[in-house]
Amino acid sequence: MYKIKEGMFSWILHKITGIALVVFLIFHIWSMSHMQEGPEAFNRWIELYKGPYFRAGEILLLGGVLFHALNGMRLILGEFTAWAMKRNKLLAYIVYATAGALFIIGGYLMWGAE
Ligand code: HEM
Repeated sequence: MYKIKEGMFSWILHKITGIALVVFLIFHIWSMSHMQEGPEAFNRWIELYKGPYFRAGEILLLGGVLFHALNGMRLILGEFTAWAMKRNKLLAYIVYATAGALFIIGGYLMWGAE
């Protein structure tokens, strides 16, 4: 039963973060191309990026990247080694703890950054 619980949670979050990363990548390339329309456009985008909504979005992005990357490594390890497959639950908790800690530290530093 616990396997379904952790497995389901990680599975859903992996899908959400994977799709969110693709959406971000598309937006990022689109905004970068518009930034090059001149100094005024560049400054406008920078002002927007510095605002609280974008800052919060970037911190959420950090959380998504951290979870997706670490959970992705857990999935790959589980595919290739019986050792990781047997310790799936423990590894899932290590992913939550590591991603969570790095998210809190990184988010704190990013929120305060100039
Ligand atoms: C260290 C970096 C990354 C690792 C280790 C990783 C690992 C993985 C793995 C193992 C899967 C398959 C999950 C499954 O079998 O259910 C996956 C799915 C996916 N990844 Fe990544 N990934 C990484 C970075 C990225 C990035 C940068 C993006 C987007 C720009 C991305 C987008 C996706 C998407 C859209 C899926 C499909 C979602 C799903 O069906 O679960 N990933 N990733």
